[in-house]
Amino acid sequence: MDILVYALYIVAFAMFILGLSGLTAPRSAVRGNKIAAAGMAVAFVATLIHIRETGSWLIIIIALIVGVVIGIPPARRVKMTAVPQLVALFNGVGGGTVALIAWGEFIDSDGFTGLHAASGPVLPLVIASLFAAIIGSLSFWGSIVAFLKLQQILPGHPLSVGRLQQPLNAILFLGSVVAAVIVGIGSVGTGADPVWFGAILVVAGVLGVTTVLPIGGADMPVVISLLNALTGLSAAAAGLALNNIAMIVAGMIVGASGTILTNLMAKAMNRSILSIVAGGFGGAKGAAAASSGDQIAKSTSAADAAIKLAYANQVIIVPGYGLAVAQAQHAVKDMAKVLEARGIEVKFAIHPVAGRMPGHMNVLLAEADVSYDAMKEMDDINGEFSRTDVTIVIGANDVTNPAARSDPNSPIFGMPVLNVTESRSVIVLKRSMSSGFAGIENPLFFGENTTMLFGDAKKSVAQVTEELKAL
Ligand code: TAP
Repeated sequence: MDILVYALYIVAFAMFILGLSGLTAPRSAVRGNKIAAAGMAVAFVATLIHIRETGSWLIIIIALIVGVVIGIPPARRVKMTAVPQLVALFNGVGGGTVALIAWGEFIDSDGFTGLHAASGPVLPLVIASLFAAIIGSLSFWGSIVAFLKLQQILPGHPLSVGRLQQPLNAILFLGSVVAAVIVGIGSVGTGADPVWFGAILVVAGVLGVTTVLPIGGADMPVVISLLNALTGLSAAAAGLALNNIAMIVAGMIVGASGTILTNLMAKAMNRSILSIVAGGFGGAKGAAAASSGDQIAKSTSAADAAIKLAYANQVIIVPGYGLAVAQAQHAVKDMAKVLEARGIEVKFAIHPVAGRMPGHMNVLLAEADVSYDAMKEMDDINGEFSRTDVTIVIGANDVTNPAARSDPNSPIFGMPVLNVTESRSVIVLKRSMSSGFAGIENPLFFGENTTMLFGDAKKSVAQVTEELKAL
């Protein structure tokens, strides 16, 4: 590989790392994203130079144009609430690509036998290709199922074959490994039948489907992040097989950052990654009750809510998925301005998994020019609720559920939540009594100090703001 290609790759890696460090804070995130994308363009040019004698630029440029034409319109048009399924789809395409690269290597090298003619250790290359095939195919099909679930084309609740699920997954995993071993052994002889390589892709693909189907909606973001990490690792393995440094480094960066994000999200939901992959949690619909036992939820009006807010010293706003659905971020910013003009301190409590993707609430509020200083992370704001006069919960549900702290039988017991119930008064803005993503009832709605303001979040917030102005 010539020196120019090496130099360009090093520039690209530096840009990836710089881009990633930009993504650690909302203020620098957009810039970080642009730097990493530019780094990818540099790596792409370096690869074109690298293969100038052996590869066909024409095919690559055509593929690039097809990718751009298919990829850019949905990325530009997608609603913020649908970003997780878009990420699932794009991640799946990455996994599928890696599986196809492994297939291409297998065919190109006559069942990997051709590799043995090359100098240097061969076994690691064969193992890396087989790893890329298994994980790439698993990731592709798993991501497709995750997309179909989030898009509600498949039901969001867990779909499993009960107690047989784990043995079935174990058999499929072993099956894909056995097929890979047969291909590996074949590579030192005359080469395994391509049917065995096809078997690896099919069995690993079925494993991807049977692994994600039993996982419920509430765990889906963690699963997507996990699949993303796996795609990164399989891309790094494919990079080893192709002797492409850019793929190895980019794949490892995706694998490492995806693993860290998966861990952080699982921690925020108080679930182990193993229990998430075992499936069976969340996604159920229902709990549309206006009363729970002898408890009845109290409804309020925009005028009454405005009076409560107007006489508060401190107000905490808790945004959730419903705020994103209603696109109420600008209305909320307007209400906060009116409150602040009355000398009331306004803070925003951001739960790490509020909404449907990491940083969802930060992005929405930043779009409406809410200052980053006003957005408080869960650990920083939880101690503040007991000193707060009014907490206004806007389209949030699971992230405020006190059962996570008090009810050991609750499916979300142990998940860290915002301590909303500790504030003197709570106003919940949502359209009905229906449940959130985890599909469970929220005792907060029946609390002594809680009132419900029913309606679309954007309309309700706008009405409260009008009432506040009139006071
Ligand atoms: P949820 O628990 O999903 O609750 C959202 C609430 O918003 C619903 O109860 C719904 O009630 C209400 N709503 C929907 N549209 C509305 C509208 N137009 N106006 C007013 N309210 C509306 O949301 P959350 O509290 O943000 O919790 C997030 C959940 O999603 C957690 O369970 C989390 O584990 C999961 N999750 C998180 C992520 C990430 S990474 N953030 C990704 C996927 C899933 P009504 O129908 O009665 O209005």
